[in-house]
Amino acid sequence: MAKVATIEIEGKKYELPIVVGSENETAVDITQLRSQSGAITLDPGYKNTGACESAITFLDGEKGILRYRGYSIEELAEKADFLEVAYLLIFGELPNKSQLDNFYTDILDQSIVNEDMKTVIKGFPESAHPMGVLSSLTSALTAFNPKSVNVDSEEEMYRAIVKILAKFPVLAAWTLRKKKGEDLLNRDTNLGYVESLLRMMFQKGTKPYKQNKTVVDALDKLLILHADHEQNCSTSTVRIVGSSHAGLFASISAGVSALWGPLHGGANQAVIEMLEEIKADGGDTTKFINKAKDKDDPFRLMGFGHRVYKNFDPRAKIIKKAADEVLAQLGVDDPILEIAKGLEKVALEDQYFIDRKLYPNVDFYSGIIYRAMGIPTEMFTVMFAVGRLPGWIAQWREMRLRKEPIGRPRQIYIGETQRKFKMIENR
Ligand code: SDX
Repeated sequence: MAKVATIEIEGKKYELPIVVGSENETAVDITQLRSQSGAITLDPGYKNTGACESAITFLDGEKGILRYRGYSIEELAEKADFLEVAYLLIFGELPNKSQLDNFYTDILDQSIVNEDMKTVIKGFPESAHPMGVLSSLTSALTAFNPKSVNVDSEEEMYRAIVKILAKFPVLAAWTLRKKKGEDLLNRDTNLGYVESLLRMMFQKGTKPYKQNKTVVDALDKLLILHADHEQNCSTSTVRIVGSSHAGLFASISAGVSALWGPLHGGANQAVIEMLEEIKADGGDTTKFINKAKDKDDPFRLMGFGHRVYKNFDPRAKIIKKAADEVLAQLGVDDPILEIAKGLEKVALEDQYFIDRKLYPNVDFYSGIIYRAMGIPTEMFTVMFAVGRLPGWIAQWREMRLRKEPIGRPRQIYIGETQRKFKMIENR
């Protein structure tokens, strides 16, 4: 017997189908609500609204569970590498050796970025925020790869996918080189995906960049932890832009812009700036906790709280542990790590945070590791974007293959009702 929900509007009853997912999540299917009743639903911020059915990522906010294609984030962070996870998210299965080798070869074949793209980045002032530069460069890629726009076949989509996976890290590294006034490097095809990114970011002149295994392993793990997170703000942006068939690069560019915000991916930069402010202010964490609780104070505890996780963000647990290990292995003694731990302790014992189920999220500790690795604060969200790229691609591909309709939400109008025009002399 199909499950239904019954709602009553002005004395009339309507039955709406209930949809149950593979993890027993339940939804009321309202696709026929307006045609049957004339009514729509209203849900600012989509806190209670499912935009789609998806088979990519499952998260349980109450239990602090995160899985990519059924594999736990804990196992993937421990046992997989970033490119394997990218393949898993995009195509649905862990690759065997030949599939992974072919995938990387296809990516390497596309890793040269058109020299004229250097003219595009040269137009930016050094003061430009790397996320704004990255979003612009990603959109500009379309001009040099016009065949990546109208991709209707899986083969055409695959070609666009390997292109953006190849070129995006190059552009990400260029945003750092631009800020430092250094020459723009292309990928070294003898290096792995993460090693190549680090070299493009940090190589000095012609002196070969010396890879540090601790840094490579830590960055690989951080990229895995950021790779997907179901229908978050930037992924929803990628899906809705992609739903107009605007093309993959334009959709990813829009996702970069959405991720930039301090309430979303920009929080990792804001966390470090907050911890630095606390340190400069003498390290009084209680003062900042009280500011965060004060409704008249716009200050929020950055890196705390989450739309879905009402328990610990499982990624935060992994990153917190990694922060201790990486700083010890690198011999870095960063006082803001202790401030972060002190802030976390005070917050987790404070009724305001307990009542609102506010816990550290993925952004609370990640910046401390990036900093220890020598990555400038303004580049933290760029690193988040490099990690989230496979997730954005997977979600865009799923939306296109499922031939989902163009995203176009409704609204409830609350403005002026009809009124007559007044000539200016009568106003
Ligand atoms: C990411 O969605 C994803 O999956 C995102 C992400 C991903 O991987 O893609 O996980 C990545 O974006 C993580 C979140 C990073 N952002 C931050 O750390 C910024 C600080 N956090 C908050 O701005 C906030 O918690 C949000 C934006 C993350 C979530 O906001 P919601 O779900 O809209 O919750 P809300 O603003 O309605 O807050 C509920 C209550 C409010 O208090 P009351 O009005 O009920 O009294 O909790 C309070 C808020 O004022 N609150 C906070 C707080 N977060 C929420 N109070 C102080 N400090 C905070 N950080």
